[in-house]
Amino acid sequence: MPLFDLSEAHCPVDSTAVQQVLEYFASEPWPSSEPSLGHSGTYGEVRPSGVRRLLDYMASFAPVTRDDVFADLGSGRGAVVAQVVLETSMKAIGVELSQKRAATASRVAQRLEKVARQRLTLLQGDFLESHSWHNATLVYVNSAAFPVPLLFKLRSALQRLQPGSLALSVRRLPGCTRGLWPIGALSLPFNWARQVKVHAYMVAPGLDDQNHTQLDWLSNYAPQPQVGLVSFGCRQ
Ligand SMILES: C[S@@+](CC[C@H](N)C(=O)[O-])C[C@H]1O[C@@H](n2cnc3c(N)ncnc32)[C@H](O)[C@@H]1O
Repeated sequence: MPLFDLSEAHCPVDSTAVQQVLEYFASEPWPSSEPSLGHSGTYGEVRPSGVRRLLDYMASFAPVTRDDVFADLGSGRGAVVAQVVLETSMKAIGVELSQKRAATASRVAQRLEKVARQRLTLLQGDFLESHSWHNATLVYVNSAAFPVPLLFKLRSALQRLQPGSLALSVRRLPGCTRGLWPIGALSLPFNWARQVKVHAYMVAPGLDDQNHTQLDWLSNYAPQPQVGLVSFGCRQ
C-alpha cells in the first residue's frame, strides 16, 4: 500500500471524483508553445501515477501531515497540485508563469470538490518573484527545460526554505548546494518518457539553528559526518 495512504495526510475524497478530475485534464487542450516564455516555457507533465510515487517518496522521509504545504513551481495546467489536494489533506500551491496555462488551471480548479478546492492556491507569475510558496515543506519542480541561470536562482530560493523541507527537481541543482542535502533520486513517468530521473534534496538546518531537536528524524538522512552539516557539495 502506498505510504501516503497510511499517513494522516490521506484525504478520502471520493475516488470517482478524483478520477473525473484527472480524466478532465485529458480533455483539456495541451498547452501550446509560447515563444515569449523562452525555453523554460516548454511544456510537459508528470503522469498521475508519477504524482503518487512522488508523494510516497516524500512520505518515506517523514509522515506527510495536513500541516505540510506542497508547492509546484511551474505548475502548468495545475494537474499536479489538483491531484495533491484531491488525494491528500495537504494544502497545495501552484505558481505558473504562463497566463494561458494558469487560466486553464483556475478553470479546472472550479471542478474540484469544495473540500479540496479550499486547500488549493493557484498563482500566475514568476515563482522567483513570489513569496507565497516560501512556507512550503514539499516542493516539486519540473525543471526539465529550465536554463542553467534559472536553475541557479531556483537553488537559491530552495536554500531559504525551512529546515527539513524536501525539494524535488527534474534537473540536478547546479553548483554548490550548501544547505541542501542531495538525498537521492527517483524515476517517475512523464508524458515524454516513462522513466525520468528526479533529484531530491532536503533543506538542512543552519549551524545557528536552535531547533535541531525538532528534526531528529532529519539526522537519519544527514550526509557522512566528515562532510559537515551545511557544507555538503561546497568548497570550504
Ligand atoms: C514542464 S512544465 C511542468 C508542468 C507541471 N508542473 C508538471 O510537472 O506536470 C514547466 C512549467 O514551468 C513554467 N515556468 C517556467 N519558468 C517559470 C517561472 N520562473 N515561474 C513560474 N513558472 C515557470 C512553464 O511556463 C511551464 O508551464
